Amino acid sequence: MASSAVLLITGVVVVAGALLLSQVEAELQKVQHSPKEHGSLTVLAVGDWGRAGQYNQTLVAEQMGVVGEKLSADFVISTGDNFYNDGLAGDNDTAFFRASFSDIYTADSLQKPWYIVLGNHDYTGDALAQQSPAIRDVDTRWTSVNKSFIVESGIVDFFLVDTSPFVLKYWNESKFDWRNVAPRDTYISNLLKDLEEALTASNATWKVVVGHHPISSGCEHGNTTELREYLLPVLKTHGVDMYLNGHDHCLQRTSSTDSPVEFVTSGGGSKAWAGKFKPTSDKMEFLYDGQGFLSMQLTAAEARFAFYDVSGEVLHAWELTKSPTGARIVS
Ligand SMILES: *[C@@H]1O[C@H](CO)[C@@H](O)[C@H](O)[C@H]1NC(C)=O
Ligand SMILES: *[C@@H]1O[C@H](CO)[C@@H](O)[C@H](O)[C@H]1NC(C)=O
Ligand SMILES: *[C@@H]1O[C@H](CO)[C@@H](O)[C@H](O)[C@H]1NC(C)=O
Ligand SMILES: *[C@@H]1O[C@H](CO)[C@@H](O)[C@H](O)[C@H]1NC(C)=O
Ligand SMILES: *[C@@H]1O[C@H](CO)[C@@H](O)[C@H](O)[C@H]1NC(C)=O
Ligand SMILES: *[C@@H]1O[C@H](CO)[C@@H](O)[C@H](O)[C@H]1NC(C)=O
Repeated sequence: MASSAVLLITGVVVVAGALLLSQVEAELQKVQHSPKEHGSLTVLAVGDWGRAGQYNQTLVAEQMGVVGEKLSADFVISTGDNFYNDGLAGDNDTAFFRASFSDIYTADSLQKPWYIVLGNHDYTGDALAQQSPAIRDVDTRWTSVNKSFIVESGIVDFFLVDTSPFVLKYWNESKFDWRNVAPRDTYISNLLKDLEEALTASNATWKVVVGHHPISSGCEHGNTTELREYLLPVLKTHGVDMYLNGHDHCLQRTSSTDSPVEFVTSGGGSKAWAGKFKPTSDKMEFLYDGQGFLSMQLTAAEARFAFYDVSGEVLHAWELTKSPTGARIVS
């Protein structure tokens, strides 16, 4: 009944070149998470949350627990900005980690793996701390195997992508922790190459790319130009069904006017109600400026999504189905 997670750390492949040069080929690491026995998978997604319970973080967490129980959640995805304002100070910053994570998401239904991407606020602290075994030892749900990695389940593959390094303006600020990232150009081109290879190899019915920053958004921050330039073309070319992000503290769904990609923001984990909006040329399907989270119920044939508010009310729900030929219908 219960789904299981197996950590499969993909090794580094060393390829000997023709001129006796050796080339190190990185690959995105994979975590395998099997669906339930009857072939379904339920995932919750929340972003922009870690504030020691403040700004309704606790209310959102409680309702995630209720919905997680009702739908039998298999795991949770965090879309980043896990700890405010400046991430974790180090892998010994365990008191704040507990106060903002372990002591908040306490429901039985949420005692499942949490797959993590980093947001810009995580990068202004110790950006390596969240991948540290010392943090995982504090709470074994915490699964941040690398800044980018893949959660593979057979019916759906989630490609978690580290988006902060794309954003040019951050490179002008001294407070970002770019250890193991700089130089930017190399990092981005390797990441995009690894992502393209992984998307090409993926046989999953549903392909979901997860990052922190929005590609399309009508909320406060709006779209991220660098992601529209570099990441969006990859999503379009490789038949990605959905791009899921946080950063904007709202719940939102837009659809691309020239491809099947849907853009979904789940960034309502704590502080919200900014009351500021940006224009978007994509088709706005739904926007809620307050707190909440997303559920995804997936089988090989259909995917059902819903946004919930702080009292657990469904604000917006939609469904995607796939015919055996792979054609997709939105309803
Ligand atoms: C994390 O991923 C990067 C890029 O794929 C890779 O170069 C690096 O070796 C990985 N880190 C670990 C600890 O495996
Ligand atoms: C908490 O949620 C309620 C209901 O949406 C809202 O009225 C209130 O303003 C929220 N509090 C904060 C701090 O955002
Ligand atoms: C964590 O380690 C740093 C560096 O050793 C130290 O300055 C800091 O006080 C430690 N913090 C805690 C909460 O123990
Ligand atoms: C970064 O700083 C340089 C030099 O001050 C400036 O020319 C450039 O516009 C800044 N770039 C961004 C994206 O803020
Ligand atoms: C996808 O399917 C092909 C053909 O069955 C197989 O060779 C390949 O290993 C599969 N890829 C993954 C990532 O499972
Ligand atoms: C991206 O954001 C800019 C600035 O808000 C806006 O003018 C532009 O229309 C947006 N582009 C798309 C494709 O939504």
